[in-house]
Amino acid sequence: MNYNNIISKENNGITTITINRPKKLNALNRETIQELNQAFDAANKDKNTKVIIVTGSGEKAFVAGADISEFADFNVNEGTSLAAKGQDLLFNFVENLSTPVIAAVNGFALGGGLELAMSAHFRVASDNAKLGLPEVSLGVIPGYGGTQRLPQLVGKGRAMEMIMTAGMIDADQALNYGLVNHVTSQEELLPLCEKIAAKISRNSTVAISAAIRAINANYKDGVDGYDVEVNEFGNCFGTDDFHVGTTAFLEKRKADFPGV
Ligand code: COA
Repeated sequence: MNYNNIISKENNGITTITINRPKKLNALNRETIQELNQAFDAANKDKNTKVIIVTGSGEKAFVAGADISEFADFNVNEGTSLAAKGQDLLFNFVENLSTPVIAAVNGFALGGGLELAMSAHFRVASDNAKLGLPEVSLGVIPGYGGTQRLPQLVGKGRAMEMIMTAGMIDADQALNYGLVNHVTSQEELLPLCEKIAAKISRNSTVAISAAIRAINANYKDGVDGYDVEVNEFGNCFGTDDFHVGTTAFLEKRKADFPGV
């Protein structure tokens, strides 16, 4: 599919989605959010795609936030709807995909950019990355899940400080906070993400999707994650992947998972 603001390419089981508005530091306007929804949905349904990597084009930014020029004159209803639609279409959508999503944070990840990175299943950053939720400096708060996912990832006190100061942290501090899993040079960022993706791809896609659902259950109100784990664990026993995986282990060979 052709998009105006993103590029999506599949290679060797990895679909890389690149947000491509470098002149606007890849800021998320309405059309970009819509296109990202379509590209993530298509990659998630694509049987060849085992892992999705999301990144930004250019050397400066992953995503410098929601496009401020689009909402500067919004009223209360429009603001509420902006956050609700964005969460549905992109941020909650990405978090709940059954295909693993890695955010390759290649520069500024601010506001909606950090919120998108936090919706991914985990994050890898280049050493020039700068991460923050600067919304209160604009008189608004994070609206794409930032007030919920940042404390989940870094703890309440650090999230409070980051959000209240509207400041940015560098890649090393993000690593120290557990906000990103690895830091590397810009040149090595995609190769490292691809290496991790290749390692993930060797495992059962069916079991990985079940693990995503069980882990995410821990963060859902009114849901008992242990119950979800028990059910997901039990369901694995009915899959071909389980029989292939356990048989291969007992026969001392590598499993070639059918993915069902
Ligand atoms: N929304 C809309 N446009 C944005 C944007 C955003 N979130 N972030 C950057 N841009 C645009 C700038 O307006 C500028 O466009 P122009 O060349 O047409 O004037 C272009 O991207 C380059 O940004 P610029 O500010 O000139 O780059 P810089 O290197 O001086 O500063 C940042 C980089 C990231 C510090 C700065 O762009 C910034 O603070 N952006 C907003 C971050 C933010 O508050 N995000 C949360 C939004 S809720």
